[in-house]
Amino acid sequence: MCGIVGAIADRDVVPVLIEGLKRLEYRGYDSSGIAVLEQGAQPDIRRVRRTGRVSEMASAADAEGFNSVLGIGHTRWATHGGVTEANAHPHISAGVALVHNGIIENHEEQREKLRALGYVFESQTDTEVIAHLMHHHLKGGDSLLSALQRTVKELTGAYALAVMSRAEPDHFVCARMGCPLLVGLGDGENFVASDVSAIISSTRRVIFLEEGDTADVRRDGVQVYDAHDQPIDRGVHLSDVSLASLELGPYRHFMQKEVHEQPRALGDTIEAAIDAGGFPAELFGRNAEAVLSGITGVQILACGTSYYAGMTARYWIESIAGLPCNVEIASEYRYRAAYADPKHLVVTLSQSGETLDTMEALKYAKSLGHLHTLSICNVPESAIPRASELVCYTRAGAEIGVASTKAFTTQLAALFQLTVVLGKLHGRVDATREADYLEQLRFLPGSVQHALNMEPQIAAWAERFARKSSALFLGRGLHYPIALEGALKLKEITYIHAEAYPAGELKHGPLALVDEDMPVVVIAPNDSLLEKVKSNMQEVRARGGELFVFADQDSNFVESEGVHVIRTPRHAGVLSPIVHTIPVQLLAYHTALARGTDVDKPRNLAKSVTVE
Ligand code: F6R
Repeated sequence: MCGIVGAIADRDVVPVLIEGLKRLEYRGYDSSGIAVLEQGAQPDIRRVRRTGRVSEMASAADAEGFNSVLGIGHTRWATHGGVTEANAHPHISAGVALVHNGIIENHEEQREKLRALGYVFESQTDTEVIAHLMHHHLKGGDSLLSALQRTVKELTGAYALAVMSRAEPDHFVCARMGCPLLVGLGDGENFVASDVSAIISSTRRVIFLEEGDTADVRRDGVQVYDAHDQPIDRGVHLSDVSLASLELGPYRHFMQKEVHEQPRALGDTIEAAIDAGGFPAELFGRNAEAVLSGITGVQILACGTSYYAGMTARYWIESIAGLPCNVEIASEYRYRAAYADPKHLVVTLSQSGETLDTMEALKYAKSLGHLHTLSICNVPESAIPRASELVCYTRAGAEIGVASTKAFTTQLAALFQLTVVLGKLHGRVDATREADYLEQLRFLPGSVQHALNMEPQIAAWAERFARKSSALFLGRGLHYPIALEGALKLKEITYIHAEAYPAGELKHGPLALVDEDMPVVVIAPNDSLLEKVKSNMQEVRARGGELFVFADQDSNFVESEGVHVIRTPRHAGVLSPIVHTIPVQLLAYHTALARGTDVDKPRNLAKSVTVE
């Protein structure tokens, strides 16, 4: 949450900052701002901030003729203090400007201290204390870099920071703890950003800062320092993020693009297994065979949509690999005295790799004595995989729409592969079954494409959903988590209240909600629970509820009054939850279009949740 960009060059960096902030807008879109160094005999800092979207701030910067060779920028997702211009970053303290991502936990204590020193606060943010602390140390004689190194030692909490000073116009400095930050290396120009997408038009050469690092960024070079302020070489990586993956192309929204990219994303995520002709343990890292054959159970930790991927995997892991599997919401797990078996593998699921609750749950699991950890993640080099023993990167490509889509289905594909690997290593999957699972996986991208082809029918349903204020989603077994995911997508981007239940649970309470105004979406694949689901549907119909059923092509469903049916492809066996995710994504997307909500940037949300 919150995006940071900074640049120093021989050219005007304002367009670099604006483009960077537009690309980082998915991280937070309440307000934004830039600060630049105004050149001249007596350099000073100019700042522009606006609530609303980056484009509004960019127009203001343009109108005011901003132009500079050094600047920093920020796009905000409010935590401390409302969405106002005064709370937007950069924050300035007499000639020092800074941008911050994260939360400073001891800000109140620091605020009191600084007030006693005569500092006056203009905002309600935790960030402003950092600006004044920096100023305080600079006034005491520190250089910009040493002031930063001293300041961060007085902070508790999480931060990524970029700071500039009018007194030192030849460079800016930055720091990282708990929030992502990388340095981009150009030719005679250098950058800092929350992620590489912000600077990809200028460079692909990046240094990932580690926890506690600070860096001094100059036109002709960058020096990184570790948490003890010692110079350190962190190595240079060449990013393979493609520009096309960051652009909309022919699509109207990133969510639409990302939903349609799923056959490709899944194909890429399963490519290594297809090429290997099976499920070698090495799909999960070099040491995976030794680790995975020694475990006796699995503990999955994740949030939101990723949590639902974990819930689906539990059905697979227990039934196919024969191992006990517990799945827990990371923000709950991290605060309870959980039972920890050192022989249970901790699996974290995260698209972004930087969700604070998941990261903290991982650290907590280790502190409880868990010995082995695996991260399934979509963002290379992000914090959670870097803190894990084994890593599997899903190959969804950049996911920019706030509502997670292709990251979810590729997580499922990775989890299915993990299941088969575990099944093999624990004697539950023989060569014949392995070959059968591989065959099913091979058909997956095609089945997903077939489900995408249902879009016109789903769009027609969406017109009716758009007029509703609530909806229920039902599923059973493997498809219950998909019902949950469908309800989450709908509420997230359409603001329609939606809830999901295992269909068998309806009569234990939620049936009271059903009347002719309540649409009930049923995920009804042609599996062993279909007859049970049909009985649950009767319970709804008998109370006047209108049913919208996603069935398989090969199931004998008939449409009738109040029962609308869309048939997705032939039943995809154990991989059916992946295929059945597509219609619920499309239903949410088209309902949002019909309601005119902001699909890619729904209210109150941001893509990476790096706060508690
Ligand atoms: C919903 C959504 C969120 C994320 C959750 C975890 O569409 O995107 O619920 O799934 O915030 O994020 P990651 O997977 O990045 O850890």
